Amino acid sequence: MNAPQEIEVLIRAKYPILYIVSWEERRVEDAVQKVCTGLNRTLHTWSITQGMKPTVSGPGGPMKSTSLPGELEALATVHGAPEYTVFLLKDFHPYMKDYRVVRLLRDLATRLRGRAETLILMGPSLNLPTDLEKDITVVEFGLPEVSDIELTLDRITDAVKDNANIDTKLEPKQREALVKSAQGLTQDEIESVFARSLVERRKFDLDIVLEEKKQIIRKSGLLEYYAPDAQIKDVGGLEVLKEWLDKRAESFTDKAKEFGIPSPKGILLLGVQGCGKSLVAKAVASQWNLPLLKLDVGRIFGSLVGQSEENIRSAIKVSESVAPCILWADELEKGFAGVSGGGVSDSGTTARVFSTFLTWMQEKTAPVFLMATANDVSSLPPEMLRKGRFDEIFFVDLPDAEEREQIFSIHILKRKRDVEKFNLKALAKASDGFSGAEIEQAIVSALYVAFDAKRELLQKDVIGELKATVPLSVMMREDIQQLRDWAILRTRPASKKNPA
Ligand SMILES: Nc1ncnc2c1ncn2[C@@H]1O[C@H](COP(=O)(O)OP(=O)(O)O)[C@@H](O)[C@H]1O
Ligand SMILES: [Mg+2]
Repeated sequence: MNAPQEIEVLIRAKYPILYIVSWEERRVEDAVQKVCTGLNRTLHTWSITQGMKPTVSGPGGPMKSTSLPGELEALATVHGAPEYTVFLLKDFHPYMKDYRVVRLLRDLATRLRGRAETLILMGPSLNLPTDLEKDITVVEFGLPEVSDIELTLDRITDAVKDNANIDTKLEPKQREALVKSAQGLTQDEIESVFARSLVERRKFDLDIVLEEKKQIIRKSGLLEYYAPDAQIKDVGGLEVLKEWLDKRAESFTDKAKEFGIPSPKGILLLGVQGCGKSLVAKAVASQWNLPLLKLDVGRIFGSLVGQSEENIRSAIKVSESVAPCILWADELEKGFAGVSGGGVSDSGTTARVFSTFLTWMQEKTAPVFLMATANDVSSLPPEMLRKGRFDEIFFVDLPDAEEREQIFSIHILKRKRDVEKFNLKALAKASDGFSGAEIEQAIVSALYVAFDAKRELLQKDVIGELKATVPLSVMMREDIQQLRDWAILRTRPASKKNPA
């Protein structure tokens, strides 16, 4: 069911107050008008600047005016209105902080229940006071769908058909790609970007649309287009995990869909810091050839209570509009900390955001692969880790000797040195308990030593650095052991062998 259909059902079912979340006033107004015309309801539209205006006439009749301040007057008008009327109040969210408005809305919820009269509030963000949660039904007004975008494209094509300088011809494949690329934009954005493309390039150009989309994702501030700067061959060890990922490399293609393969949901990489979890997330994007969207877990929970829910919804929407893609939630525990602890005084926002996220994980059908990482489980709520949320939870432990050899070889090569000149076995032996990040760091520090001595990098420089370093695994021995004990029963090891 799409949003206009949902609105129609709710109006017919006499739901008293609806809240439509959308940036797109024009589309929402159009949709509500159509519904009201279809149902033969009078529609009045209100905004603080325009006041109450009849939009669709019907059996509801005209309104009298009062001398109250704008938003209160609007609500009073709704209260006194006859049946078969619908009110659409634009940009109403700022007033919902006023206790008088809240009280009036609660009164209205009672009065309108069971009457053929509906109050619709709309605004770009959802910020419901807790008192009103039970009285208001939230409707998500989604972004334009493929069919809407096609209509827009046809309309624009038609508008410029007499202009000889513009070439609007599109092969079916090009047309499909163009329409797909415009998903995730609002109606206004789609119109502007198509128009801009015709002005700048004299044709419909996919690159311009994609550029616009990156802009929008950047502006949202919660997601970041991440250029995948790592590849699977940059990851040492973690054979089981790599095999799992390799097997699914094609699973988002049309071919896989035809074969009957469901898109994988996502995985959680849990484990010791510096062992390659973030690295793998980046590498998967290159391997699977999908865009990587990094979710700013900290920002989602922003400082403004109430906005957080809207934040997570919008991040989910944007990621779905870019699908197929990988949504990378790095260091998940940073956002979800305290959900189960109860010690936080944010009046349940964290818990609500968390449950929105969980529900989405459970029910999502859009091909968004969630790649979550975490260094610590103690602050992750247990519901998160229940079976069925992730396809798999992998435990990423410290690398064993063989894996450390691979990691040395990867990073020596990365610094454009000849691996043959190093004794990898000896390096692996000297780096027992080191993470991949610490191995990389030892090589970098050794490079400084060699550079300072004005000679080439030698084995002894690296060994010297290793000896001078106390790895995190020594300082945090107990924490790591605890994590291992926990993980052994609940997760799958990412590597074939676990280090002793
Ligand atoms: N298994 C590994 N193979 C190769 N390099 C690694 C590995 N683990 C860590 N590194 C190096 O250390 C850096 C930091 O690791 P990272 O992926 O951020 O660790 P984590 O996310 O598990 O804390 C990586 O960018 C990479 O250069
Ligand atoms: Mg990391």
